[in-house]
Amino acid sequence: MKGHVKSIQWGKGIVKTIETYTILDSTNEFAKHFIKSGGASGTVIWALRQTAGRGRLGRRWDSDPSSLTFSLVWQCPDKSIPQNLTLAIGLGIVQSLEVCVPEIKVKWPNDLWIAGKKLGGILGESMHAAGRLWIILGIGLNVNSSPGAEQEQRISLREVTGCLWPRLAILDLALLGLERGFELARSGQELASLFRHYGNFLDRPIQIYQGGQVYRAIARDVLPDGRLVIEDARGRRALLPEEISVRF
Ligand code: BTN
Repeated sequence: MKGHVKSIQWGKGIVKTIETYTILDSTNEFAKHFIKSGGASGTVIWALRQTAGRGRLGRRWDSDPSSLTFSLVWQCPDKSIPQNLTLAIGLGIVQSLEVCVPEIKVKWPNDLWIAGKKLGGILGESMHAAGRLWIILGIGLNVNSSPGAEQEQRISLREVTGCLWPRLAILDLALLGLERGFELARSGQELASLFRHYGNFLDRPIQIYQGGQVYRAIARDVLPDGRLVIEDARGRRALLPEEISVRF
């Protein structure tokens, strides 16, 4: 279920090459086979059409031929995954896409939102191959689609701006955002101030889903390691993205 179209030399930082395929089930799944078969770090797997996309927490990710669906494979030089990576990547992408849509926001930890609806999401996964830790960052963006009401409320760039966007131009911006996100994750220092600017729920009441329980709290901050600081009757505490899911 593939069909390699072409390779594009993109950059010399983290992201190096784009490999384009006509149709893939899931770029994240394909990326895992790519890594196992000796594929290089810094490769972006871009599917012009993705048929069985996966989202966070075991959900589906639906897309159509006008969506952008790609995954970056990266060999992590450290022994563990930087906890703040997906938040930092989300903030990097928001910063680079705001030239097209100034209204874009990050919903912690890694959703891209506009006006309370979902524009895109990031699925970070990891695996070991040849004794090394690899990270797969899968990104889905609604570019020219009219997603309508599905399981989650979605919105596309076209719906917000009224323009049709070339997917390659949006991919290029998103990859610049990825590069920026890797820089942000390295120091972690700017995360809190950027999240104050680009995040959409600090100092607002939120619902927290944690281990089968649901409770209300106020989101107060994010820490350089990417944890969300919340406050409720039990006091303040910092929670990891994999521990909770958050709704308004
Ligand atoms: C989420 O918000 O739940 C994350 C969605 C991530 C979807 C992208 S599309 C490209 C890549 N391949 C997948 O199967 N999933 C990610």
